[in-house]
Amino acid sequence: DWTMAAFRQDMIARIRAQVGTSKVICGLSGGVDSAVAAVLIHEAIGDQLTCIFVDHGLMRLNEAEEVVRLFRGHYNIPLVHVDASETFLGALAGVSDPEQKRKIIGRLFIETFDAEAAKIGGADFLAQGTLYPDVIESVSAVGGPSVTIKSHHNVGGLPERMKMKLVEPLRELFKDEVRALGRELGLPEAFVGRHPFPGPGLAIRCPGGISKDKLDTLRKADAIYLDEIRKAGLYDAIWQAFAVLLPVQTVGVMGDGRTYEHVLALRAVTSVDGMTADFYHFDMTFLARAATRIINEVKGVNRVVYDVTSKPPGTIEWE
Ligand code: XMP
Repeated sequence: DWTMAAFRQDMIARIRAQVGTSKVICGLSGGVDSAVAAVLIHEAIGDQLTCIFVDHGLMRLNEAEEVVRLFRGHYNIPLVHVDASETFLGALAGVSDPEQKRKIIGRLFIETFDAEAAKIGGADFLAQGTLYPDVIESVSAVGGPSVTIKSHHNVGGLPERMKMKLVEPLRELFKDEVRALGRELGLPEAFVGRHPFPGPGLAIRCPGGISKDKLDTLRKADAIYLDEIRKAGLYDAIWQAFAVLLPVQTVGVMGDGRTYEHVLALRAVTSVDGMTADFYHFDMTFLARAATRIINEVKGVNRVVYDVTSKPPGTIEWE
């Protein structure tokens, strides 16, 4: 794709001109946007860039390890991996309100990032994977009549506090363009094509109070669901798919025993931009296969339901 190749070269020149010989810090979230931004900036200024990956313990199965392997192993980009899961889970214990969860996670994220940035001597520039729709949405959130349904933390927060100048090489791009740029930069297809994942992670996929046990159960079920979706060749046709561990226990029967375990909801939607979405029309054979595997393989789940709500009136996430 010559257009993306030209964008890449042009952006590398612009990053070099903006940053000069200064140091840059980039926060990795595990998602596509921050990864593409980091790889592009590293190509421009090499080891003047340090990435900080705050692992809040709310990632999916093996996700944190994959990020670390990709950056340290494949790209050899300096990466600080902070395992802050105990801090995050401790602060979230007993908290069940969704907005409260978001506030706690947002605050701890900034504090942890801040502390790590200070440890490596700070930097003049902060890199972010802000996309064009993030820019538009944050403008309309301030000026427009739109009601804020959920407090996302994609834009703002860090820079004002840390008094760093921003490097945002993806500000002019839409999601599909970021993916194309990622491919142009040689990021693995499986990484580039990933479904969006919310900043607060699995905390908002365990409605009500969360715990390490619940998160581990959810992680296993979610991995099986996504595995079945990939095997069926449906991953790319779906905007976002995930499991939700409900704070409800129901009675079941297994062998000759009675079980009393959690209900798991499966969600899958198609969407263009996440603003509206339709539930995905799986065939029943697929759902039955995924549900059977989950109930057989995941301890703590004895019932699986499928969410057939579109957005609006539902939201994509349950919290
Ligand atoms: P909803 O649930 O509002 O989600 O329909 C729309 C898109 O936004 C993601 N989402 C979030 N992303 N922080 C994020 O970074 C959040 O707090 C958050 N809440 C929802 C959601 O996964 C979907 O892609």
